[in-house]
Amino acid sequence: MDRNVRYVVVIGAGTMGSGIAAHLANLGFDVSLLDVNDEAVKAAFDRAKKARPPHFYVADTAETVRLGSIDRETQWIRDADWVCEAIVEKAEAKKSLFSLIEPLLRPDAFISTNTSGLEISVLAQGRSADFRSRFIGTHFFNPPRYLKLLELIPTPETSAQTVKDMSAFLEARCARRVVVAKDTPGFIANRFGMWSMYYATHCAEKLGLTVEQVDAITGPFMGRPRSGSFRLNDLVGLDIMEDIANNLLARCPDDPYTKHLAPPRSLKYLRDKGWIGDKAGQGYYRREGKELMSLDLQGLGYRMRLEPQLGSIDALAKMPLAERLREGLNLRDEVGEFMRAYLPLTLEYAEYLKNDISHGVEDFDRVMMWGFGWEAGPFAIADMVHAAPKKYFDGDKMLDSAGNYVARKHEPQYRTIQDFPIIAKHDHFNIREMGDGVEAICTTTKMGVFTIGLVDELTAFLEDGKISRFVLTSEAKSFSAGYDLQFLLGCASEKRFDDLEKGLNKFQQLGLLISKLPSVAAVFGFCLGGGFEMATSCSVLAAQPEAQIGLPEAKVGLIPGGGGTAHIRQRNSTGAKALVESAKVLALGTVSANADDARRYGFLRREDVTVYHPDMLFTEAKNLALKATPKPETGWTDVSGPITGMIEQAYSELQKVGEMTEHDVRVGDQIKQVLAKSTSFEDALARERNAFQVLLKEGLTVLRIRHMLETGKPLKN
Ligand code: NAI
Repeated sequence: MDRNVRYVVVIGAGTMGSGIAAHLANLGFDVSLLDVNDEAVKAAFDRAKKARPPHFYVADTAETVRLGSIDRETQWIRDADWVCEAIVEKAEAKKSLFSLIEPLLRPDAFISTNTSGLEISVLAQGRSADFRSRFIGTHFFNPPRYLKLLELIPTPETSAQTVKDMSAFLEARCARRVVVAKDTPGFIANRFGMWSMYYATHCAEKLGLTVEQVDAITGPFMGRPRSGSFRLNDLVGLDIMEDIANNLLARCPDDPYTKHLAPPRSLKYLRDKGWIGDKAGQGYYRREGKELMSLDLQGLGYRMRLEPQLGSIDALAKMPLAERLREGLNLRDEVGEFMRAYLPLTLEYAEYLKNDISHGVEDFDRVMMWGFGWEAGPFAIADMVHAAPKKYFDGDKMLDSAGNYVARKHEPQYRTIQDFPIIAKHDHFNIREMGDGVEAICTTTKMGVFTIGLVDELTAFLEDGKISRFVLTSEAKSFSAGYDLQFLLGCASEKRFDDLEKGLNKFQQLGLLISKLPSVAAVFGFCLGGGFEMATSCSVLAAQPEAQIGLPEAKVGLIPGGGGTAHIRQRNSTGAKALVESAKVLALGTVSANADDARRYGFLRREDVTVYHPDMLFTEAKNLALKATPKPETGWTDVSGPITGMIEQAYSELQKVGEMTEHDVRVGDQIKQVLAKSTSFEDALARERNAFQVLLKEGLTVLRIRHMLETGKPLKN
């Protein structure tokens, strides 16, 4: 049942409440946030507005969140479609809040409690049967904008309908991936995840390894985030770790593995000093000026950061995870020693816990992957290193609690691009079958770069007319880092200006060709320069919210030359003012921080969409492709006014405040030629090509390109 939730009241404006309120406001919900009084809610929300990384896609969204005091704003609670409680982790405080709000709740409203590990059943005590059937626990991960996992915890009294409705709502409308967990201490994430954090520290201390060594072993080498173990401790906060561990120790007296939740020596030392991690400015690591210091686990003093010097990690780095782990366990050095001490017991503990705390090994693994960023969860890892007699996963089957193989979850809406079968392989792209007559063109170049080879091959393919409706995307980690800078550098240094003209012309023609076909660009990661020019030639651009979109050509001393300047000119032809703003955006080489930010800069059109669910980009792109209609640029809108002068004025002001160099102004001058002087779309394209001829003859542009290719960073000269 779709409850059509629109209005959410979040209670408790701390780290989690503010983060949840921000996330829901980002998604377009009408959100109110309540705390004990006006001062408390304002102070807490002001802190949230300054959070790094930011909670909001665009800062203005913060102004849409209504702030209020719990005593006064009872009407807000009466109106809410969902009351989302996120106050302090104290059972008594939560219980008295629920007794206060129970009479106010609408009979069909969702009511949830956010907690790291309190028993949900206890929080529902004293409430009516109706309340208890609707009441459910949520365990959001911090920060909600960036971490998609949500553990959903029904009590034995929560109705099946509530679990179903809430899961469906959170997945479909709140950009979450839900794992339903049992109402046990710490649920899955904190029970097992916190234990594995503690246990890594105990192993490090026992074996006499350094924090750097353990972070190197328990980082990407073991398929985990760069933060490894000790950076993660500092990030989470040693005080929070201790609270969670104490809660588990008190509530799981019969679990023999909890003995490893006793505080490790170094953790106790830091905790006593108040050096509880990043929020205290120091923990296992400390910054002193430009130096990074780290704690010596034996002597318990800070010293300069040491290189881990573990050659075996580098030697195995390129292998797939399964091989790396198997080989790692056999190494005769510190890496092998640590892994043999750490990994087998970790897998054994997961096996011990699995039936008590989760509804299956797939759920368990998902929590560790989505909540802790592990490449594979403990059961998939057990399969990789052959830790158990029977495999937990076998193709699309998995082992259930009775030891039988049952079907794994079937969730086609969350398919990645690799889940669609390849039906044709070309040198620079694959064609994948998406179903219902939609195919995906997936570039296979490094960083999705539009190389000369890709442009030629894709043009020939599209001209052949073999594809009628498609999604344009990439198999790399980003949609596209842009056009082929290496080619441009070659043209400039060998003075092959005819090749340049031809290459650019082909690229512009490819954009025009794409624009005549029903197509959707599925954009994620970077979508820059030439990549954006092709994406925006598609009928619709569908972007993941964190996609960074823009036209940074000015940063390499050029202007958008694959139709980008022409498109921007055409789309901002409402008046002189709009064009001047565009001239600034292009001259500064602006790249948006995320998709919503890109809309603000005018990179996205009204028909373009942000796909907020992090795992639904390709399903949405395919659905959009089914109804896409091509939008080739037709006609031309003249804009009157003293545009040339206004743009020059704008540049001169930017130069005065140091935002543009003299060379930036020369680049800007070429942008101005296209924006202010073009008489048709074709003329604008010709002016783009001409700008390349002019700018690639400039030494400062060539220096910028070379610097970008060598360092990946812009040169301001
Ligand atoms: P916090 O301590 O930062 O914020 C709690 C807020 O609740 C404070 O602003 C406080 O003034 C307010 N509050 C207390 N009693 C209230 C009442 N009766 N009515 C209205 N507001 C009241 O706590 P945080 O970290 O935001 O945690 C909130 C909940 O989420 C806790 O249950 C916590 O265990 C859980 N959680 C926290 C995570 C984290 O990373 N901080 C992660 C996941 C869950």
